[in-house]
Amino acid sequence: MPYTVPKLSDFSPSALNNAVRELLSALEQESAAVASEHDWKTFRDRWMARRNGILTQLNDLWLKAAPGPNKRGVGQRVNELKTTVEQTVDATLVRIQSGASSGKLAAERLDITLPGILRPLGAEHPVIKTMNEIIGVFRNLGYSVEEGPEIETDYYNFEALNFPPNHPARDTQDTLFIAGQESKALRDRLLLRTHTSPVQIRTMQKMKPPVRVVCPGKVHRNDAPDATHSPIFHQVEGLAVDTNITFCDLKGTLDHAMKALFGSSVKTRFYPSFFPFTEPSADVQISCIFCDGKGVRDGAPCRNCKASGWIELLGCGMVDPNVYGFVDYDATKVSGFAFGMGVERIAILKYGVDDIQLFFQGDVRFLEQFG
Ligand code: PHE
Repeated sequence: MPYTVPKLSDFSPSALNNAVRELLSALEQESAAVASEHDWKTFRDRWMARRNGILTQLNDLWLKAAPGPNKRGVGQRVNELKTTVEQTVDATLVRIQSGASSGKLAAERLDITLPGILRPLGAEHPVIKTMNEIIGVFRNLGYSVEEGPEIETDYYNFEALNFPPNHPARDTQDTLFIAGQESKALRDRLLLRTHTSPVQIRTMQKMKPPVRVVCPGKVHRNDAPDATHSPIFHQVEGLAVDTNITFCDLKGTLDHAMKALFGSSVKTRFYPSFFPFTEPSADVQISCIFCDGKGVRDGAPCRNCKASGWIELLGCGMVDPNVYGFVDYDATKVSGFAFGMGVERIAILKYGVDDIQLFFQGDVRFLEQFG
C-alpha cells in the first residue's frame, strides 16, 4: 500500500512523532526504489508538487487542521519535514546520476569508459610453427596428413620396418621401453616410438596405393640432453607409394621441399646411408645456409657446416620391398619412397636458435619472438 497522509485528530507531541516517523519511513523506502530519471520525476512530484504533493497535503491536513494551541508545534514539524523531503529528493537524483541504481553494489556497476581487459595473444610454438610449415609444403604437393600413437609396439616401431629382433640397427635408436612387459611376446611390448616411421606401416595397413602422406609427431629417445639433443623431439615422416615411383621422384620432391623451406638458392645432395626399411637409403644434405655453401664465412671456416659447405638434414630412401611384405602390398607392382626429418633441427637452422633446450623450457622471452 502506498503511503497516504493521514488526517490527524490527535495533535499531541507523541501522536505527531508517530505520524512523522511513518512519513519518513515511506520517504526513505520510495527514495530507495528510484532507479531511473523517470522514476525520480514521479517521486519528486508525488512529494513536492504544489498541487496535491505530500508536502502540500501536510499543510492542509496537519497544519491548517491543528487547533490554535498546537499550531506552533505542528508548523515547526511540517517545516522540518519540508527540508528533509527536499534534501532526500535532491540526494536521490545525485544517486541515480552517479550510476548507483538501487540494489546494485558499487563493484557491480559498469563503467564503459574503463579500458578493456587486454589478453596477450599467445604465439605459436616455434616447433609447431615449423612443423606446420613443413606439412604445408607437402600439402601443396597433394600429400595428406596421418598421425599415429606415441606409445607403440615393438612390431610397428621396429619389426615391420625390417629391424629383425636383436638386429644392431636397433641400437642406433636408444629406445625407452615401458617397464614390466617381459611376459609379453617381443612384438607386443610397448615402447615410446623412436621415430615417426611406424605411421608408414599403420598407413599402408589402412589404405591401398596410391599413398602420399606426411606424418608429424613427437618421438622419444634415451639421449642425454645437450645443445643438439633432447630425449623428446619431433619428426615429420613422408611416404609416397604408387606405380613407377623412382629415386628421381624422391630427389625432385625433397629438393623442392628444401628450396621451399630454406629459399630457392639452396642446393641438395644425396649421400649414401643405411636404414633397414629403405633400400637404397640416403642422407639429404643442403648447401650451408650460413656460408652459401662456401665453407668460409667472414674469412674464417664456417662453424655451422664445419667448413664443409653442407649440412645434413634428413634421412630418406626407396621403401625396402621387405616392408611391403608386412603390409600386404605387392612389391612387384608398386614402388615408393620415404623420408623423415627432425623438426627442431630445421627450426634451429631456419630461426638461428643455438640450443635445442630452448624449445622445451617454456621461457616466454624466447617463445614470444615467434609471435
Ligand atoms: N626414421 C628415420 C630416423 O628417425 C628417418 C627415415 C625416415 C629414414 C624415412 C628413411 C625413411 O632416423
